[in-house]
Amino acid sequence: MSGERRVRALIKESEIAARIDALARSVADEKPKDLLVVAILKGSFIFAADLIRALHRVGLEPHVEFVHLSSYRESVVSSGQVTILKDIDSSVRGRDVLLIDDILESGRTLAFAKDLLAARGARRVLVCVLLEKPHKRAVHVKADFVGFECPDVFVVGYGMDVAHSYRELPFVGVVETVR
Ligand code: IMP
Ligand code: MG
Repeated sequence: MSGERRVRALIKESEIAARIDALARSVADEKPKDLLVVAILKGSFIFAADLIRALHRVGLEPHVEFVHLSSYRESVVSSGQVTILKDIDSSVRGRDVLLIDDILESGRTLAFAKDLLAARGARRVLVCVLLEKPHKRAVHVKADFVGFECPDVFVVGYGMDVAHSYRELPFVGVVETVR
């Protein structure tokens, strides 16, 4: 029998907000020049929206772009391939780029995006993720700024989904079935 589903909060709205302000201060400490924020769709859109406003509060004036990347999760076989579904419109040449994603897990998505922007001539590519799942890395890539360490469970909310649901939740949580 299938029970009712609910989402148990793992990281509260207020914790996320406080952490984002701290992340913005850390980004500002890097004194970025001609800053371009590149948010990876879809999962990072809410995090990016909150982070860029926090960047404004610490005195930065980032431009904002989006790149939509497909990940292995969308294919049947775990191929490890990443492809571009929607590219950015601006040039990154000579600029400092802040790449934003929701979760760093295997690292394939971020390694791909980071290499791409570096190959296009970005001066610096800094990586900021809301969550990091440790011990899951398949390729070597490091995040410069991490919101929270995430337990090895599938999380939803705050932009992240399971089968298109739960992106609207203002907190990060875990789906549970209650009987
Ligand atoms: P990576 O390429 O393996 O690092 O995958 C990172 C991507 O997988 C993230 O951008 C998310 O979209 C997705 N992902 C990984 N873990 C979760 C999760 O627990 N919930 C929702 N999406 C996840
Ligand atoms: Mg994603």
